[in-house]
Amino acid sequence: MNDFIFHNPTKVYFGTEQLAHLGEELATFGTKVLLVYGGGSIKKSGLYDRIHALLADAGLSVTSLGGVEPNPRHTTVNEGAVLCRREGVDVVLAVGGGSTIDCAKAIAATAPSTTDDVWDLIEGRATVGEVLPIVTVLTLAGTGSEMDGSAVISNKPRNLKCSLRTPLVRPRVTFEDPSLTATVPAYQTACGSIDIMSHIFDATYFTDQPQLDMLVRVQEEVLKTVIHFAPIALDDPANLDARANLMWASSWALNDFLFDGVKQQGACHVMEHELSAYYDITHGHGLAILIPRWLRYILDDTTAPLIHRFGVRCLDIDASLAPIAGAEATTCALAHFFFDTLGVAATFTDLGIDERHFADMADHACEHGPIQSIKTLTRDDVIAIYKLCL
Ligand code: NZQ
Ligand code: ZN
Repeated sequence: MNDFIFHNPTKVYFGTEQLAHLGEELATFGTKVLLVYGGGSIKKSGLYDRIHALLADAGLSVTSLGGVEPNPRHTTVNEGAVLCRREGVDVVLAVGGGSTIDCAKAIAATAPSTTDDVWDLIEGRATVGEVLPIVTVLTLAGTGSEMDGSAVISNKPRNLKCSLRTPLVRPRVTFEDPSLTATVPAYQTACGSIDIMSHIFDATYFTDQPQLDMLVRVQEEVLKTVIHFAPIALDDPANLDARANLMWASSWALNDFLFDGVKQQGACHVMEHELSAYYDITHGHGLAILIPRWLRYILDDTTAPLIHRFGVRCLDIDASLAPIAGAEATTCALAHFFFDTLGVAATFTDLGIDERHFADMADHACEHGPIQSIKTLTRDDVIAIYKLCL
C-alpha cells in the first residue's frame, strides 16, 4: 500500500435535467463568460442555442471562441487568452469533448499569467498562478478531462503534444448529461471507450507496485462496465443507460478515485501522444493500436499473472490456463474487442503511419529517461513497439 491524498473538488451535475443549473453556477463566478467549443457539433445538435438561452436567462454576457481542433492547438489557446484579457472574462465555459475542455483549461491558465503563450507555461518559462474558474459541459465520454487537473495541448510546428498538469485547472463544476453524447459518431464512441480503459491500464492497473485490493477490484468493475456498454452504445447510439455508464466511467477512470499513489508513467499514453503530435490522429485510436502490442511486448513471467488476471476478470478468459498462455489469450481477446467489436482499424499502416518518425518520436518519449511503468521502456523498446504496430 502507498500513502496518498484524495482531493477532487469538482462539483458534478449528472443527469438529463441538470443543465438547467448552468446559469446559476456560472453566475457564482461573475458575469462575463468565455464560451469555448469545437468544430460545430454543438451547433448541429442544438446545444449551442440552448446554452446561449440559459446564459441569457442568467443575465450573463458571452464571448465565444469556436473551432477548437481535435488535438487542440496552442495557437487557439493563445487566441482565447487574448479574448479573456480584452473582455475581462470571469469564467471559462467549455462545451464539448476533451479537446475543447483542455483548450478551455489552458486558456484559463494563460489569461491571468505573465505570458501570451501557453507554451511558456508548459515548458516552465512562466508559472501558472491564478487560473480563471473553469466550468464544463461534457459531450463526449473518454478523456476524463471533465474532472481532472490536466490539459493536453498540441504544438503543430514543433510536432509536440504536451500536458499542462496542475490541480489549478481542474474544472470547478462539470455538467454530465449522457443524452448529449447520443450524437457522438460510432468511431469517436469507440475511441473514447478505449481511452477510458487505457487510463485505468496506464495509471494504475498494470503496475508492479502495491495497490489497495479494493481499488483494483473497482478498476476491474469500471473496465467491465466499458466492455459491456461500449458495444451497446455503438449498436444503439441513443441508449441512455449505455451513454450514462460510459460517461461516469470516463470521469472515474481519471478523477483520482482509482489512484492510490502508484508512481509510474502511462506507457501507452506517452507513446500515443507522440503519434498524435506527428500525425494528428484520434488519441483513443492510437491507444487501441498500441495497447495489445505493448502488452505482448512486456509479457513475461513477471507480468503474465496480472495480464491473465485482467483477462479472467474482464474478458472471460479461462482461469485455469497457465499464466503465460492466459496472458497471451488475454491480449488476443483485447485486440479482438478493440478491432472487431469496436471496429477501429488495427495498424499504423491503416492510418498512413510509417517508420520515418519512429526514432524522433521515441527520442522525445524518452527525453527524460526511459519510461517508468510496469516494465521500464527504453528508446529502443519504444521503437520496437511502434514497429509491432505497423
Ligand atoms: O469539435 P466538435 O465539432 O465538437 O466535434 C468533436 C470532434 O470532432 C466530436 N464530438 C464531441 N462531442 C460530440 C461530437 N460529435 C457529435 N456529438 C457530440 N456530442 O468528436 C470529435 C472528437 O472530439 P475531441 O474533443 O477531440 O475528443 P476527445 O474527448 O477524445 O478529446 C481528445 C483530446 O483529449 C486529450 C487527447 O490527447 C486529445 O487531445 N486527452 C486529454 C486528457 C486530459 N485532459 O486529462 C487525457 C487523455 O489521455 C487525452 O490525452
Ligand atoms: Zn487518454
